[in-house]
Amino acid sequence: MDARSSRYHEVYARAQRDPLAFWGEAAADIDWIERPKTIFDPKADVYGRWFVDGVCNTCWNAVDRHVQSGRADQAAIIYDSPVTGTKQTISYVDLQTKTQVLAGILAKDFGVVKGDRVILYMPMVPEAIVAMLACARIGAVHSVVFGGFAAKELATRIDDAKPKVILSASCGIEAGRVIPYKPLLDEAIRLATAKPSACMILQRPQCQAELVAGRDHDWKTRWDEALVWAKSIYECVPVAATDPLYILYTSGTTGIPKGVVRDNGGHLVALKWSMKNLYGIDPGEIWWSASDVGWVVGHSYIVYAPLFHGCTTILYEGKPVGTPDAGAFWRVISEHKAVSMFTAPTAFRAIKKEDPQGKHFAKYDLTKFRALFLAGERADPDTLIWAEKLLNVPVIDHWWQTETGWCIAGNPIGLGQLPIKHGSPTVPMPGYDLRVVDAQCNEVPRGKMGSLVAKLPLPPACLPTLWQADVRMRESYLDEFPGYYKTADAGFIDEDGYVYVMSRTDDIINVAGHRLSTGGMEEVLSSHKDVAECAVLGIKDQLKGEVPCGFIVLKAGVNRPPSEIEAECVALIREKIGPVASFKLAITVARLPKTRSGKILRGTIKKIADGEAYTMPATIDDPAILDEIGSALKQKGVMS
Ligand code: COA
Ligand code: AMP
Repeated sequence: MDARSSRYHEVYARAQRDPLAFWGEAAADIDWIERPKTIFDPKADVYGRWFVDGVCNTCWNAVDRHVQSGRADQAAIIYDSPVTGTKQTISYVDLQTKTQVLAGILAKDFGVVKGDRVILYMPMVPEAIVAMLACARIGAVHSVVFGGFAAKELATRIDDAKPKVILSASCGIEAGRVIPYKPLLDEAIRLATAKPSACMILQRPQCQAELVAGRDHDWKTRWDEALVWAKSIYECVPVAATDPLYILYTSGTTGIPKGVVRDNGGHLVALKWSMKNLYGIDPGEIWWSASDVGWVVGHSYIVYAPLFHGCTTILYEGKPVGTPDAGAFWRVISEHKAVSMFTAPTAFRAIKKEDPQGKHFAKYDLTKFRALFLAGERADPDTLIWAEKLLNVPVIDHWWQTETGWCIAGNPIGLGQLPIKHGSPTVPMPGYDLRVVDAQCNEVPRGKMGSLVAKLPLPPACLPTLWQADVRMRESYLDEFPGYYKTADAGFIDEDGYVYVMSRTDDIINVAGHRLSTGGMEEVLSSHKDVAECAVLGIKDQLKGEVPCGFIVLKAGVNRPPSEIEAECVALIREKIGPVASFKLAITVARLPKTRSGKILRGTIKKIADGEAYTMPATIDDPAILDEIGSALKQKGVMS
């Protein structure tokens, strides 16, 4: 493979030279109700808007368009659920009927109209995809909340999005465990100020949820009634390209999570473009993204992009290991003939840990499999090389954020694969003008670390703003480096233009590919009655990449055993944030290391915990505290 044989450089340069022509051409690949005449308006909203006068419908492009053009009987979704022992294939025409019926229920039964918000708190079942598409069909704005979040987190999102309706299910199923969702939903609605007028609950056979009279509706009952009339009525509603398709909440440094807004038009254009040019996938092929519909990867590459492209998407309700074994991924790929898959490196670490020799792999036929894509966290070269050797196909790391909705830097195999450099997600995608800058916003030389920023405007699909929070959008992403979008990732670009993403510049950590705020965890720990102060930081973990570790200092006079309080802190984070936080380690210390001005030295604590060399901070108040931290970590078995 040779960089010169790839079309990437020519395509990227064209997008830089004439972005309007480039994205205008890409826009011709989707169905518009009214074709946009203005490709980009730099004056609109926070930093400009794409396709301002275009009118379209996302559901049409994901479903109806394919029914009309000969894919009616092709599988749109293959649902494979080892945790329930279920497999189901849904054709494009079936999916059309289902979205019509659910759109009908939302519109007629619950009065949902264009612009209304609908929250989805759903496990990985086909109804979750149908619900997203049904909202898109009628121009309602969906907001999917990941099932591993606790009631309080859900309540915060309810209060911000103010949904008219919530769609949920009686339970989610984790390997070997049924997790009732309804008590969490009820508690969230109790905590929230913005109460939804209705909830519709999918009763799964594994768990019956109790319905609240007057508010809750049984999914099946509503469905059976609507089946009679909805199909003939609920056609796709025209929406402006700039209208919001969804809000997806993601961890911010402080306060409530950020409601990342995705528009209809830009999202359609960029995601459609990415399937062929970045992932090298043709319409009709079978694609698998092993994520969760609650994350951005799930939104973009379980649901929207593969459907925009007329592919078959696999919806997998299971884990890489334990459902039933470390061969689960190979089974799914071979059984359904997936040509490529997308997941987080942590999934491969889990498989590697259980089956380092790849014994399970040998049992399956993966001859149709062409490429593995990894994102969500830094792909450690060890895991990457292991996967390359095992699969004998390109293993492509690519860099992403919830905010961008698609890849920032990757290896576009559809344009001709570029040489892989382990540790780098390769090169910026068209539309991303990436720079590395210092604190004063001066570009640093190639190879030198700094803040990774993208020159405005961002390409289509990236967030135009945060939900009803333009000021927060500016403050969070645009003010610090004027003229640029701050990714909050630090890294460098090498002589060949390869991007390296090394760490976050804020307090966000990445646990098993899940983005979490340590500040949010500190807020919860501080609310414990016996905790005087605390510091939470991410420490290295062989499986999950990072896991949170909380140091707590107890209030004077507290004389209960520290282990008791630590266990309460662990339980408190699970209760307030959810199991997804993977918070299992609270350590009591007498004091925290600080600078003379009182700033907790989290970076130094992290280095100690990770067993890395550190220099004594010149401004440290009392160096002896670092030894105390080291001893506490040793006592807990974190360090030897
Ligand atoms: N609903 C309820 N609980 C959930 C949940 C959901 N949808 N998803 C996860 N949880 C729970 C888990 O059961 C676990 O609970 P526990 O502490 O009681 O064991 C906890 O949240 C942490 O989950 P996770 O970090 O995913 O750990 P895990 O041990 O269950 O699985 C992996 C580890 C590596 C197998 C898993 O994270 C994985 O497959 N990740 C790769 C794919 C992915 O999700 N990527 C994300 C974005 S691309
Ligand atoms: P999320 O918004 O949950 O998708 O998380 C985005 C963050 O995950 C990024 O800002 C990075 O810190 C990290 N991330 C995602 N993909 C990669 C990657 N390929 N390499 C390094 N970090 C990544």
